[in-house]
Amino acid sequence: MDYVSFIPSVTTYPWIFLFVYDYWVLLFICKFVWKCKRSLQLSFYNKNLSSNHLDIGVGSGWYLKHCMLPSNIYRIALADLHISPLKFATNRLLSRFDNSTKMPKIELIQKNILSEDTASDQLNKFDSISMFFLLHCIPGSMKEKANIVFPKLKELLTESGVIYGTTVLGNIIKKENNAPSLAYRLCTYLNNNGIMCNWNDDIDSLKQAAISAGFHIDVTIIGYTAMFELRRSDVENE
Ligand SMILES: C[S@@+](CC[C@H](N)C(=O)[O-])C[C@H]1O[C@@H](n2cnc3c(N)ncnc32)[C@H](O)[C@@H]1O
Repeated sequence: MDYVSFIPSVTTYPWIFLFVYDYWVLLFICKFVWKCKRSLQLSFYNKNLSSNHLDIGVGSGWYLKHCMLPSNIYRIALADLHISPLKFATNRLLSRFDNSTKMPKIELIQKNILSEDTASDQLNKFDSISMFFLLHCIPGSMKEKANIVFPKLKELLTESGVIYGTTVLGNIIKKENNAPSLAYRLCTYLNNNGIMCNWNDDIDSLKQAAISAGFHIDVTIIGYTAMFELRRSDVENE
């Protein structure tokens, strides 16, 4: 598959959508359809957030607006395929700082995470990299996409760093629901329209891709959402 030319979310995040995203996707759909409340995801975001952080697939920037920034934070990079989420999320992040608060260095990266040069030009590595609700947007099977994304992100990670994120697993929706259910219907609609690509995503292929890329992986499933943390297995972390 030509990953770069098949970009499902090209038309999905115009400004108007970003304005309603927090309520429609993160409040309503997360809670009632994917059954993993945004407050739980925010706690998970906070748990691994470091003072040298990269957020990939920023969307509306809700996490960046509401997370607990470490007091010693000195660098935050925002990465996205599209300029509108990047600008939207950056404005929300900037609104947290005034003259009295020390501003971290903010870097913007407009890039397809699947493209060849994603890692090569980012010389300073990150201690934490978040990718919330990103994998399920990326085309291909879990094995195909994670086998591209995880090794790339490993190049951007410090030795003791963590990559963490959430993704909706279509395979669990299929197992636990029948066709008329809301989760089944929404997942079908989003997959048929190229907005999500996760019908066959399952926990085993997520774990396998992480292990093949040289990570230890911890996964918690809440509702239909996997919350995962990856740490390098070739380094002994304290
Ligand atoms: C579902 S939103 C998630 C937003 C946010 N992380 C959240 O959890 O609410 C997915 C985001 O990933 C971006 N995205 C999708 N495919 C991407 C890719 N291949 N490379 C970089 N960003 C991508 C989209 O533009 C969008 O901002």
